[in-house]
Amino acid sequence: MTKLLCIGAGYVGGPTMAVIAKHCPQHEVRLFDINEKRIAAWNSDNLPIYEPGLKEVVLESRGRNLFFFTSEKIAEQIDWADIIFVSVNTPTKTFGLGAGRAADLQYWEKTAREILQHSNHSKIIVEKSTLPVRTAEAMENILNTNNNGFHFDVISNPEFLAEGSAIENLENPDRVLIGGHKTPSGKKAVQAIVDIYANWVPKERIITTNLWSSELSKLVANAFLAQRISSINAISALCEKTEADVEEVAYAIGKDHRIGSKFLRASVGFGGSCFKKDILNLVYIAQQQGLPEVAAYWEQVLKMNEYQETRFVANMVHAMFNSLSGKRIALFGAAFKANTSDTRESPALVVCRELLEEHADIVLCDPYALENARQDLGDKADQVHYELEPYKAAEGAHAIAILTEWDLFTNLDYEKVYKSMAHPAFIFDGRNILDHEALYKIGFNVYAIGKAPKQHFHRNEVDSEGGMY
Ligand code: NAD
Ligand code: UGA
Repeated sequence: MTKLLCIGAGYVGGPTMAVIAKHCPQHEVRLFDINEKRIAAWNSDNLPIYEPGLKEVVLESRGRNLFFFTSEKIAEQIDWADIIFVSVNTPTKTFGLGAGRAADLQYWEKTAREILQHSNHSKIIVEKSTLPVRTAEAMENILNTNNNGFHFDVISNPEFLAEGSAIENLENPDRVLIGGHKTPSGKKAVQAIVDIYANWVPKERIITTNLWSSELSKLVANAFLAQRISSINAISALCEKTEADVEEVAYAIGKDHRIGSKFLRASVGFGGSCFKKDILNLVYIAQQQGLPEVAAYWEQVLKMNEYQETRFVANMVHAMFNSLSGKRIALFGAAFKANTSDTRESPALVVCRELLEEHADIVLCDPYALENARQDLGDKADQVHYELEPYKAAEGAHAIAILTEWDLFTNLDYEKVYKSMAHPAFIFDGRNILDHEALYKIGFNVYAIGKAPKQHFHRNEVDSEGGMY
């Protein structure tokens, strides 16, 4: 039996270790987190995050070879473990040098010092968190300053799961990446991690590289994914001006196998806890390395995303006769994507805040994410109404904006919705999930991303500020 500990039981630590426990009944897996509420939730029927299939996987192993612990047991857990995965948060730094761009490594470093303090034998430390390239070097320096003859091998094993499909991605990953030193001890440590994944991942999908390639590949993978979204979003703005249809363009270019069809869905913008933070980090690293052109190139991916979010709100204002003051607007979706309760960096909340600036009366509707949305909105939270039921949210509204692609919103009876709204009724589809022609026939004025608007009144104005008409 190998003793596996994970420090940080969040969106990555929880699902990843639950899947390892499922496929490795011969090993014992423990998770530790300083957030006691989170640990209590992992030990209850009401898990702290919503993820399709997660509950089944947790219930299969919890109490058998999967255990969740809080802070009072930290020393005991660290000493017990042979391999420690570190999956703590690495947000963007908000203070000091590199504020707003660099990764804040305080949680990681604190963890490394705790590991050093409570270890009484050599261990393998696995970087699961997303970290700047060469972080392992700093960690090795901290960990290996002990005078008691223990050795710590630091391995990079970044996680590529996407929220909403975490279990599917962990069960059947495109690849597992493991980076380590080419020293005898480094190779042995890499092999130990390979052996864990080999319990369910085909060998050809387990890639081993040097440490720095592994750390950098994680940032680069996220940057490339986000870049595709910003690229198609840039084209969506052009489509709205030219009556080309962005979905047709995406389909046509995606058929070229060199381009591929994935991640070409134009939208109100990308969100989530990582794309923005990881690109900012990449930009910072490039700047630090004296590569301003490289930094500027990647920064543009973020600028385009901000432009897309702001453009969406500007289009709403223009379409609704340049005033939203006092108008009830139902925002369908708060989560940054479907099938998750996570609202971190959600474009829905960016749109919500901008509409509050316009003095709109906002009703936020989401099946799972309302509690997180309320927290993330901070001092604006009390200015918003929260409604689980889309039909109720739409009642008396002047407009609906689709901000998360939940199936719930695709499958509504829009005749019924239309009848309950103020008229003229507007719908802004920020995810292109609705049947726009059918909505138009019902009577809605329809505005989608990267498509010509379908409106029942004539506009002879051509808006030069980015409006859709
Ligand atoms: P999260 O905030 O959900 O979870 C991190 C957890 O670490 C929190 O519960 C926090 O309480 C705990 N923690 C912080 N310091 C601690 C300490 N000293 N001891 C014990 N616990 C501590 O974050 P997340 O979304 O799981 O992300 C974790 C890392 O994984 C980040 O680096 C992120 O970039 C990366 N990542 C995230 C995703 C994703 O989809 N969320 C995917 C791939 C990679
Ligand atoms: C992303 C990556 O896909 C994961 O591989 C990575 O592990 C993870 O970040 C991370 O490091 O945290 P995630 O943010 O959970 O995963 O979800 P995605 O499916 O990538 O979606 C991100 C955002 O882009 C969402 O707001 C989504 O709606 C948007 N998106 C995605 C689009 O607007 N268009 C698309 O075509 C695809």
